[in-house]
Amino acid sequence: MKKVILSLIVLLVIFGSCKNDTSKKVEGQKSTTEEVKVEKKAVDSPNYIQEGVKIAKSTGKTLKGKLKAAIHEGGLVNGIKVCNVTAQKLMDSMSVVHNVKIKRTSLKLRNLKNAAPNQEELAILSQYHKQIAQGNQIKPIVKEAKDEIHFFAPIFIDKVCLNCHGVIGQDIKPETYKEVKKFYPKDEAINYKEGDLRAIWSIVMKK
Ligand code: HEC
Repeated sequence: MKKVILSLIVLLVIFGSCKNDTSKKVEGQKSTTEEVKVEKKAVDSPNYIQEGVKIAKSTGKTLKGKLKAAIHEGGLVNGIKVCNVTAQKLMDSMSVVHNVKIKRTSLKLRNLKNAAPNQEELAILSQYHKQIAQGNQIKPIVKEAKDEIHFFAPIFIDKVCLNCHGVIGQDIKPETYKEVKKFYPKDEAINYKEGDLRAIWSIVMKK
């Protein structure tokens, strides 16, 4: 536990200082752009991309670690319980640590409440799906709003995900899926294959 707290503090210090650097740079740029800009535009800022990727990676790694530990301890049903109880809490606390808003969202949802995409996220999701259908690689995207930076990055399906997001009767055991349905009667987040785009990270950073 001590170790976790320590590393959170270290992360806070590292990202805290990164944030100051980047916001200073953008403040400098802002004077050359128009004052009122309702329309969001894509910015080509490697700093924000880097910062977003770091946050997404560390949150994803922590989530996956918790999920794997839960499955190891008490099987898939325990994994579902832990996802149900922990996933959102963990993202909320990572949001506090990084001083951003972190969300995962998708065209096919399990948790309708926390994960529903907004207009902007829907546009990014359809852009990514279109690019994949055309055989193109997809990359993180950064958009600049008035006081915020909106970062997006893909989340792909790997083997372990198939246990709960794959095909019922093939990857997902019917008894596991029964448990999913108990928590999420309107679940749509199944029938994925390895390598599929499952969702996106949507991270809102303050300028
Ligand atoms: C043990 C079952 C289980 C496994 C394995 C699993 N998930 Fe999930 N997943 C869930 C549950 C349950 C939720 C709903 C969590 C909540 O209520 O916030 C969920 C939600 C999600 C969401 C949020 C969007 C939504 O539809 O609610 C994403 C994204 C996601 N999972 C991706 C993955 C990825 C990627 C993997 C593999 C690394 C994975 N999941 C593995 C059970 C699982």
